[in-house]
Amino acid sequence: MEMSSWVERANKVLMKNVGRLPVVFSRGTDAKLYDVNGQEYLDFLSGIAVHAVGHSHPNVVAALKKQAEKLIHVSNFFYLEEQILLAEKLAALSGLERVFFANSGAEANEAAIKLARKYGRTRMGGKYEIITAYHSFHGRTMGALAATGQPKYQESFRPLPDGFRYAHFNELDSWEAAITPQTCAVLLELVQGEGGVVPIDPAFFHGLAALCQRHGLLLMIDEVQTGLGRTGKFFAWEHLGVKPDIMTLAKALGGGLPLGVMLAKEEVAAAFEPGDHSTTVGGGGMAFAAALAILQTMEEEKLPERAAHLGAELKAEFQSWQQELTIIKEVRGWGLLLALELSIPAQPVMRACLEQGLIINAVSPTALRLLPPLNISKADLDRGLTILKQALATAAK
Ligand SMILES: Cc1ncc(COP(=O)(O)O)c(C=O)c1O
Repeated sequence: MEMSSWVERANKVLMKNVGRLPVVFSRGTDAKLYDVNGQEYLDFLSGIAVHAVGHSHPNVVAALKKQAEKLIHVSNFFYLEEQILLAEKLAALSGLERVFFANSGAEANEAAIKLARKYGRTRMGGKYEIITAYHSFHGRTMGALAATGQPKYQESFRPLPDGFRYAHFNELDSWEAAITPQTCAVLLELVQGEGGVVPIDPAFFHGLAALCQRHGLLLMIDEVQTGLGRTGKFFAWEHLGVKPDIMTLAKALGGGLPLGVMLAKEEVAAAFEPGDHSTTVGGGGMAFAAALAILQTMEEEKLPERAAHLGAELKAEFQSWQQELTIIKEVRGWGLLLALELSIPAQPVMRACLEQGLIINAVSPTALRLLPPLNISKADLDRGLTILKQALATAAK
């Protein structure tokens, strides 16, 4: 069937809750996607930071096939081998001793919010307020949405759960001013992804960590987009040398299978008692098997290190483009979570790239975001860069 017919059918039946581009994909392999007409695209978006090891990595495919025939789900009244193996692996990688599995990033953050509240209630004399950053993004469920400091996402859905205060990213005074006698925790990203790929200032972060220490606040880091090698370390907080009390992960962990995780220090996790929080599937056997294969692949292929070094090369390349392409105002990001801030609208550049077979994202009206798979080949990367440079040069005319 023609792609336009598919799009027509989709538009009749799918809710119009997101703006989609008129491309229907039918298969993918490493950093390449193919639409229903067989046209090839280079994927520099990775399903929004999901395909860290690329599409249909053979290790992941093999693990999924095996798991599908073995066991897909048991209720959370019991344990599952792969659940235990994955929890052990994540605890060992992060040094955070306790693990809770959910189905998405938003749900991982809901769990973090609930754990902070329970900890505040039982260990901090009833404190419950959480401070988050303006321009943050923590998900679309009501609690995660309340934590997301962006009125444009919140307005239509008020009233939202209360107990959230907002402070300006990278401005320590603003966080200090937001602390009240009710504050129990802070929650933030270390590179604001949906907020435009804005990295944290290390001096601000260390100041905030000290503030948390001084006031006894839980430090919660949302690594849903930054986690698992994307920034050049397994976790972005490793760049800064401060382990959070609570961390959330999703996206790259399941590699497209629905999986989110909240990890916490033993002493903090102890606030949860049986019955406090749960979900029926919480990832499940297929997602755990995929995650184990993804983590193993990341370690074998040294993907965090690869992201660090490819990211540095890419940044230098983009900075060299700035000489001739003065529409590139700024190049920012960590590892392979990068953005180009333009002096012109980003959407037309994104669309021109798509027409030439390169998928990137206009993360704000004037910024392009790049999130290629961490194991993208040099040849695919170079081909994508050629398309991007050409699209920028044409848009600059
Ligand atoms: C930092 C961050 N937190 C949370 C989420 C929500 O994750 P999910 O879409 O899996 O619910 C996202 C999604 O973009 C994110 O970037």
